[in-house]
Amino acid sequence: MSSKLLGALAAASLICCRCARGIPFPGTIFERESDLSPMYGYVVVGGGVSGLVVANRLSEDPKTTVLVIEAGRMKSNTHAGHLSPASTTAIPGLNNRTAGVAAARLLGGGSAINGMAFDRGSPGDYDLWGEINGDDSWSWAGLPYFKKSETFTPPTVEQQVEYGITFYMDVHGTSGPIQSSYPPFIPTTGKAFIAALRRLRIPVQVDGTANAIGGFWNPNSLDPVLRERSCARTTYHELASNRANYHILTESLVTRLSHDLSGVEYIPGYNPDQTVVAPNATTRQVQARREIIMAASALHTPKILQLSGIGSSSVLDRLGINQIINLPGVGENFQDHPAQYLAVVVTNISDPTQHPAYLDQNKTYDAEMGVLYEETRTGPWTVSTDNTFAFLTADHHNVSYGSFVEAAQQPAAKYLRPGIDSTIINGFEEIKMASLSLQKPLSRGSVRAASTDPYRMPLVDYRTFSNPLDLQIMVQSVRFNTDILPQTDAFKEIGAFVQTPETGLSDIQLGGVIRASADPSFSHPSGTCAMLKLEDGGCVDKRLRLYGSYGRVRVVDASIFPVIQSSHLQSTVYAVAEKAADLIRRRF
Ligand SMILES: Cc1cc2nc3c(=O)[nH]c(=O)nc-3n(C[C@H](O)[C@H](O)[C@H](O)COP(=O)(O)OP(=O)(O)OC[C@H]3O[C@@H](n4cnc5c(N)ncnc54)[C@H](O)[C@@H]3O)c2cc1C
Ligand SMILES: *[C@@H]1O[C@H](CO)[C@@H](O)[C@H](O)[C@H]1NC(C)=O
Ligand SMILES: *[C@@H]1O[C@H](CO)[C@@H](O)[C@H](O)[C@H]1NC(C)=O
Ligand SMILES: *[C@@H]1O[C@H](CO)[C@@H](O)[C@H](O)[C@H]1NC(C)=O
Ligand SMILES: *[C@@H]1O[C@H](CO)[C@@H](O)[C@H](O)[C@H]1NC(C)=O
Ligand SMILES: *[C@@H]1O[C@H](CO)[C@@H](O)[C@H](O)[C@H]1NC(C)=O
Repeated sequence: MSSKLLGALAAASLICCRCARGIPFPGTIFERESDLSPMYGYVVVGGGVSGLVVANRLSEDPKTTVLVIEAGRMKSNTHAGHLSPASTTAIPGLNNRTAGVAAARLLGGGSAINGMAFDRGSPGDYDLWGEINGDDSWSWAGLPYFKKSETFTPPTVEQQVEYGITFYMDVHGTSGPIQSSYPPFIPTTGKAFIAALRRLRIPVQVDGTANAIGGFWNPNSLDPVLRERSCARTTYHELASNRANYHILTESLVTRLSHDLSGVEYIPGYNPDQTVVAPNATTRQVQARREIIMAASALHTPKILQLSGIGSSSVLDRLGINQIINLPGVGENFQDHPAQYLAVVVTNISDPTQHPAYLDQNKTYDAEMGVLYEETRTGPWTVSTDNTFAFLTADHHNVSYGSFVEAAQQPAAKYLRPGIDSTIINGFEEIKMASLSLQKPLSRGSVRAASTDPYRMPLVDYRTFSNPLDLQIMVQSVRFNTDILPQTDAFKEIGAFVQTPETGLSDIQLGGVIRASADPSFSHPSGTCAMLKLEDGGCVDKRLRLYGSYGRVRVVDASIFPVIQSSHLQSTVYAVAEKAADLIRRRF
């Protein structure tokens, strides 16, 4: 994450907005695989954010047919059933700790369970994508798809006055499926955070959507009328669900692509409680006349490709899988935002209900607010995550110019996985030279199928802080929260300070705390089937076609991000998938 701040007061009020109670599905959802057609125009693997966007847009054409196969349920009332329990391999940069990885497993994917922060990276994030692919259509100016996916409702006039929330209407979408808005309840701590940033002369943007550098107020993926989560299932899926050419099969696990890439194999009736395939499990096939669309997320797409014989010889040989396409980039270039959580105490707020953690502390109040939410759709239960963020640059952290020089001079292979394919080293060299903004980790991990058993979760190898410069920047970023923000008048006035990590630690001490307690993941896995030139270790071309697949396979999920952006991921996944649909439909 480098200089990403997790909102100084990120003691996270709990996720309350539930994915809307959906309207019953009229009949194109299949509980039984025997109801399916044997062949579709397109088969979409994974009904998460990217998969549902692409399936919706492709099914706008009544002359084609679309099937989405989703491992998870339509919906579920228990949080646990929504997640795949992947866990990482030991991470040397984090004292050999392992960690759990949250991956969505239900229709709607991450958008049905995530923190609902709805922000974009800054223009430079996407300009870098355009630059390294030699294609301006992937740069900021070339991505009108952010707007296409969004309908923005501005904060109320009272919120603008009370909190100082500002916005530019013209950077937002006004007729897209995903609703973005501010909750009716905003804790005053957000205001203190923004005031503190101003005091420290950190720029506060009029609208972070236009340029997410410095501090800003930020909306949520929240329906402004229902005050419920606006996710891929309640929008893209429901809008498509009355089309006869849009089919969905849930609770079915895609196990591999068929050898000739004519379709996919899957196991119907997938039971996520089983960790190995039952000996009597039946594998079915469905054909894709035009294309197979991979949308199973940056953790599961590379696994499925590898199980299909698509990947590097070394990974496939170890699993005893015959190689169909030699593609070393599958599963490499893995990126996320490592996160350091802080324990923040706020001691001088006259109204204790303004404290972000108060709901957790007072169960009576929590229950009352639950009733208020059900009856009036107001109060703190409308809140999912912070509405204030700051993404700081090296300047704000006093990171010395020497760090840039050092990063530029590092031999590209020095901190990559030993034995990695030379094309991936080429690609990393190019990205490193172009993206030295220090808003992004330089460390790279990998994701690999753990076994030929499709029920086994992939091996997730984060390699957090394998590049030592990442830890140096993380130290500065954490110190900003522990030592600098609490010294501002705005924080002193509300009596806010960070309990852990302690203030006044040396670089080495703070680095030690981070190694011992940071989380390798902010639930933002990406990059594992990157859109890069083949000679740069790429996996898909700039039209998102899998190299070597003769146009049979497209990848549309967060795997294709060549470099992670400095923001949460969902709005970028929506935009990329909107663009992917136009590429597939040859609209440009
Ligand atoms: C806990 C959590 C909190 C987050 N918070 C935020 C936030 O506040 N703001 C934000 O912008 N982003 C957030 N994110 C990230 C964001 O939700 C993801 O980046 C986004 O959902 C990724 O989209 P995707 O299409 O790549 O994959 P997903 O949305 O994960 O969809 C992949 C789908 O494929 C299915 N699948 C996987 N394997 C198979 C298989 N073999 N066969 C069939 N189906 C399969 C999965 O069940 C899943 O439904 C969060 C993510 C998580 C997990
Ligand atoms: C992590 O494990 C490796 C290999 O077992 C070992 O060499 C190293 O010393 C360990 N690091 C820590 C911090 O324990
Ligand atoms: C497989 O066997 C288990 C018991 O061993 C049984 O519960 C299950 O229904 C069987 N599944 C199929 C598809 O026959
Ligand atoms: C908890 O909330 C209830 C209901 O709002 C309130 O009456 C009570 O005083 C609160 N308890 C504490 C310890 O503040
Ligand atoms: C950067 O340096 C200035 C001047 O020494 C200091 O006032 C400021 O607090 C520093 N900021 C950070 C983030 O370290
Ligand atoms: C605590 O808050 C009150 C009311 O906002 C304010 O008057 C007082 O100055 C604050 N205390 C400190 C130590 O800043």
